[in-house]
Amino acid sequence: MSGDPIIRFDHVGKSYGVNDVLTDVSLSIARGEFVTVIGSSGCGKTTLLKLINGLLSPDTGAVYVEGRDVSTVDQIVLRRNIGYAIQGVGLFPHMDVWHNIAYVPTLLNKQNKEKTRRAVKKWMEVVRLDPALARRYPAELSGGQKQRVGIARALAASPDILLMDEPFGAVDDITRKALQDEILRIHREQGVTIVFITHDIGEALKLGSRVLVMDHGGIVQDGPPDELRSRPATAFVRELVGG
Ligand SMILES: Nc1ncnc2c1ncn2[C@@H]1O[C@H](COP(=O)(O)OP(=O)(O)OP(=O)(O)O)[C@@H](O)[C@H]1O
Ligand SMILES: [Mg+2]
Repeated sequence: MSGDPIIRFDHVGKSYGVNDVLTDVSLSIARGEFVTVIGSSGCGKTTLLKLINGLLSPDTGAVYVEGRDVSTVDQIVLRRNIGYAIQGVGLFPHMDVWHNIAYVPTLLNKQNKEKTRRAVKKWMEVVRLDPALARRYPAELSGGQKQRVGIARALAASPDILLMDEPFGAVDDITRKALQDEILRIHREQGVTIVFITHDIGEALKLGSRVLVMDHGGIVQDGPPDELRSRPATAFVRELVGG
């Protein structure tokens, strides 16, 4: 069954009051894909992501993760299988780096402290965080280090899916490039399925093996980076890729 999509949107609509954010979105993501999502501010990117991990429910249609309707599965089990990394926020300010990353493994491993210790050590290595930072608090870290902790924490439950909402927005260009290279390597090595939101077209084209462009409540183009460049589907996409 590994050929089945790991994430599927079936004619999904989502409104906030009179504001129709998504209309009739259908989409399939295969296991192991790296999908980037780009579109104007307020076009519904974060809404799309929150429909995947059940933080929001569709008004019409359905979202399936691993073949199961998100609205009917146990939300705790669902979110354990889905890492969520968001820009800037998300770290527990009163916990040091070690405890931030250990948070989910501790829940999963219960009394097995050695297993948790190994998990934290492993994920700090994967995101290339210096072990000397383990006892630092988030306020004592650089922006790039905080992002690495956020990614390690999102990965620490070994989820099948990693959702990232503009995770590298708040860091300088050099750090952003390093983090982009890390996430590409992590994707290659861990085989995790990634859905990554960005408002930076360069980042979308560099990271995604597939890029979704959102506009006017839906997906206006869905294809590999080369296709967006050579055959932009709308004037909006053409402008985005600078053609
Ligand atoms: N809880 C809410 N209640 C009412 N409106 C909302 C709510 N959350 C989002 N919206 C509106 O829905 C639209 C889509 O929001 P969403 O956060 O998905 O956009 P986005 O594409 O992620 O934008 P950005 O690039 O600025 O992060 C926006 O117009 C926003 O104001
Ligand atoms: Mg957003």
